[in-house]
Amino acid sequence: MTAVVVIDHIGTLATMDGSGPGGLGLVDNAVVVLVDDVIDHVGVVGSIAVPAGATIIDAGGRAVVPGLIDCHTHLLFAGDRADEFAMRARGCSYQDIAAAGGGIKSTMRAVRSASVDELVGLAVPRLRAMLARGVTTVEAKSGYGLTVPDELKMLEALRLLPYLVDVDVHATLLAAHAVPPEAASASAWVDTIIDELLPEVARQRLADACDVFVEAGAFGVVDARRLLRAAHHHGLAAVVHAEQLSWQGGARLAAEVSARAAGHLEHITADDAKALADAGVVAEILSTAQVFLRGQRPVPGRLLADAGCVLAIGTDLNPGTAMCADLPLAAGLAVTQGGLTAEEALRAMTVGSARALGLNDRGVVAVGKRGDLVVLEAASPFSLLYRWGEPLARTVVRAGRVVHTNT
Ligand code: NIG
Ligand code: FE
Repeated sequence: MTAVVVIDHIGTLATMDGSGPGGLGLVDNAVVVLVDDVIDHVGVVGSIAVPAGATIIDAGGRAVVPGLIDCHTHLLFAGDRADEFAMRARGCSYQDIAAAGGGIKSTMRAVRSASVDELVGLAVPRLRAMLARGVTTVEAKSGYGLTVPDELKMLEALRLLPYLVDVDVHATLLAAHAVPPEAASASAWVDTIIDELLPEVARQRLADACDVFVEAGAFGVVDARRLLRAAHHHGLAAVVHAEQLSWQGGARLAAEVSARAAGHLEHITADDAKALADAGVVAEILSTAQVFLRGQRPVPGRLLADAGCVLAIGTDLNPGTAMCADLPLAAGLAVTQGGLTAEEALRAMTVGSARALGLNDRGVVAVGKRGDLVVLEAASPFSLLYRWGEPLARTVVRAGRVVHTNT
């Protein structure tokens, strides 16, 4: 049987369809009709007769935006690194802590000793916190297992999560996150990923993208290039953690291999930004990580926008550099610390993040798109950027179904 949902009396609908000031596609006094999982009508109040038997959501003059999309997270992990936060406050750097066996390797140890069920159980409240902020789609990476079975275990846990929380989870293989202690070298581990992990991940369709941390002490561009080419051969899109702590040429590599997205980019140059824009690589702004690490560089935002990059925003949620599940806060920081306009930030965490995930069925409120919408507990869509720390989602609809209410 067909299910019809009508979201009526929307004060301001930000469709993100690219029209009007800042491309927000604002419609005042709007109504949206969903049939099953798809948007069937977008218009002003009274533009359509409310079908009998429809579920009515009265927005009561509030703002409505597309379901938010977190384009970059490491939300699946075990353990805790609060001690590292305190160490950095005393002057230790992220790199010093990693070199002393902490950092990613500390989380690796905790993840290796956790079962799939334990990992899932730990991630559920993080995903619920995201949903309460209006997030309907997230990207989530492996990268703390760092053996073939432990990376597969992480991807299996990510596959199970949407059965427990009503959020879409798009998994990315990030086996090239750190060199595992057992590996003879970074190149040897990349060989293992290419020979053993990629074929299995592709066979079981456990991830649709392959990411690599291009950084001193992690992976260089030569190994990253052959990994991403092998991933392409298996039908996985390329993604790069690029120029986060130092300039290594990861953004240029992302442009060279036509990566779907490149994240961080704190040490990027204007020429690199231009190369990303020309190659159509989506630039992921991960403001919370840079602020959390007390990075000396500003959050990159304006430089990327001025170069013409498509922008996306992610929380980068992870226990080391961004213990934060709050995508609207990340977007607010992209404005205040990265120099984006409010309109750019709203588009980045909807239609831009959809592009970063290779999805064109969401991020925009338009006929034929997936029925992912958020009624905000606010009259202005800008409140998402402005009211820091408040879970502002009053009603979340995902694929035409109400999946969260806070009324
Ligand atoms: O995106 N930079 C690499 N990966 C993560 C940090 C992971 C960690 O410290 O656990 C990031 O910042
Ligand atoms: Fe990251």
